[in-house]
Amino acid sequence: MNSKKEKFSPLSIKKADAKADSMLSLMTQDEKIAIIEGDRSFFIKPNPRLNFPEVYMTDATQGVHIRESFGDNDLSKYSMEKSTAFPCPISLAATWNPEVSCRYAEAIGEECRAGDIGILLGPGVNSYRISQCGRNFEYFGEDPFLSAKMIGEYVKGIQGTGTIATLKHFVANNTDYYRRKSNSIVDERTLHEIYLPPFKSGIDAGAQAVMTSYNLLNGEWCGQSKYVIDDLLKTQLGFQGLVITDWWSVYDGEKLVKSGQDIEMPFAVALKNVRQLLKGGNICIEDIDRMVKSILRTCFIMKFDSRKKYVHDSAFYKNHESVALQTAREGIVLLKNDKNLLPLSKSRKNILVTGDYIENIAMGGGSANVKGFNNRILLDELRKEYGRRIIHTANPSADQIQSADVVLCAIGTEDHEGWDRAFELAEDQEKKVKECVINNPNTVVVVSTGSGIRMTDWNSKAGAIIYAWYGGQVGSQAVVEIIAGKVNPSGKLPITIEKEFKDSPGYGYIPKGEMLYQGWNEKEEKAHPVYDVRYDEGVFTGYRWYEKKSIEPLYPFGFGLSYSTFNYGNLSINTDEFKNQGKVKVSFTIKNLGKRRGLETVQLYIQDVECSVPRPIKELKGFAKVDLKPGQSRNIVIELTEMDFSFWNPKTKDWFFEKGTFVIQIGSSSKDIRIQKQIKL
Ligand code: BGC
Repeated sequence: MNSKKEKFSPLSIKKADAKADSMLSLMTQDEKIAIIEGDRSFFIKPNPRLNFPEVYMTDATQGVHIRESFGDNDLSKYSMEKSTAFPCPISLAATWNPEVSCRYAEAIGEECRAGDIGILLGPGVNSYRISQCGRNFEYFGEDPFLSAKMIGEYVKGIQGTGTIATLKHFVANNTDYYRRKSNSIVDERTLHEIYLPPFKSGIDAGAQAVMTSYNLLNGEWCGQSKYVIDDLLKTQLGFQGLVITDWWSVYDGEKLVKSGQDIEMPFAVALKNVRQLLKGGNICIEDIDRMVKSILRTCFIMKFDSRKKYVHDSAFYKNHESVALQTAREGIVLLKNDKNLLPLSKSRKNILVTGDYIENIAMGGGSANVKGFNNRILLDELRKEYGRRIIHTANPSADQIQSADVVLCAIGTEDHEGWDRAFELAEDQEKKVKECVINNPNTVVVVSTGSGIRMTDWNSKAGAIIYAWYGGQVGSQAVVEIIAGKVNPSGKLPITIEKEFKDSPGYGYIPKGEMLYQGWNEKEEKAHPVYDVRYDEGVFTGYRWYEKKSIEPLYPFGFGLSYSTFNYGNLSINTDEFKNQGKVKVSFTIKNLGKRRGLETVQLYIQDVECSVPRPIKELKGFAKVDLKPGQSRNIVIELTEMDFSFWNPKTKDWFFEKGTFVIQIGSSSKDIRIQKQIKL
């Protein structure tokens, strides 16, 4: 197979089932046990006698993590020459462009094929509940509808290349603070309305694997919980593929085998005593057969037994880099632009640039880290555009800042799995940005981070704020294109940024008297008791929370500026087909009033006015990213279904539509509703 786009076609389930049954019937007990335990940390064990291949898996959502080795395991055979560092997934979510998500994942899938990687240990699809969570950069933001749309396309993109997508981490894994010890206390309605839709969407799009999480859900470790795996994942969400544990996350072999789990990674710990369990009659061989069959079947569906590496041509990585660049261009969010400071014209005399992320690229760390190639730093990109006007000073004096025509200050955070990071910026970052904005109102702040940060003390003084996330290897090029006005910004926040952490629904999750730590310590984690994280806000997460509590955030969900302005009008809603077909058609027009071509993401929120259960004031149920030339207007149609008006009923374990009055609200962010209408259904 070559790098030309050949759509992968999976083997039919029926044929894969038959092949799995036939191989299973030939396997000895030892061979069966060998395959349900991870091998060399990142493999499904091969079976040469039966011609079953080894299957390599690696991380993850934002590109291929290349490993030469892991512990004592030599992985050099699978160590590719290079892989593209894409913008992080929260930045992908900020594009609000499902097509970009599909192309992004397809590019990652192609790189997996070039490296003979069968299983990508991503996408990470946990929801953003706490701005401090160290892994928010790996996920798709706070809203279940937006995440679900982006993740569905991600899965199609990657699996279209024949690479398995692994939806992780199942479930309610929303903090990395002593992540093996956090017990998420969540009710079923909240699970179904907030935390499960991203998984459900990935499953419906055909994801072949799900990774369970480190945390406990309502008192049971997810990786060995029958409720989590058999009931929620398989029965309620209809997942039929491969279930794998997170690395060192399970403790009880008997529970694991009976939970519906298929394979323990990175090797047998809980499953160490599996032979004794069989001997003692605690489990039976049929339990093991179920696990083996699931593994074999998935591998046969993906044709792992008969495929070849991609041979790639010179355009291969170039194409992927352009996908990375387009993602960065569309995902960067312009939060502030006082007096149209941006775009910066070349008539500016000088631009003083400073900050840690002028010469360094901020990236998310841990398993999701991707080194990239051809990494471009902001300083070089700025110099390419503005030449000698750029004056780089690591520690400018107040005088230097004051006398600069424009100041550009690049700050950030380095988020990492295994721990959470404070909402407040590190002292040096905060100091630097304050020095700049206090001394020069023409300061452009470029923020590289994976999550929300506290900007409250300097936000109002900054001239412009560009939220650049972790932009990957060419992110800085996109930042400069936006600064120079070559690209009109179009990213919108997939999260709410609160003023103070105490304003947020997740506040108070750390046990009293304890403090955030940095750097994972196995001993300390082992010694730490299990602690409860109560999701008392229920379905009121993100903007649903701030609106219910009337708390003004610093920047609302869905917000992002453009160099153009857009006008919304002519809203009409047709409910004629609701009775028979459960459909509502919403149409309206959008016009670009600016002088530049611009992309606007129109957002549709529903409010259920009267209901027998408490419901959010707004719930996102539709969006479209529209590309408009200056003066151009377009008619947009968004179709809603009965499901969009429904809520989860834990008694019937199903979605429920309750008749009544609803308000359809359409706007440019969750706070900026431009047109709305009431309907009765
Ligand atoms: C992470 C997973 C990752 C795995 C393998 C774990 O620590 O939680 O997301 O896929 O390591 O690298």
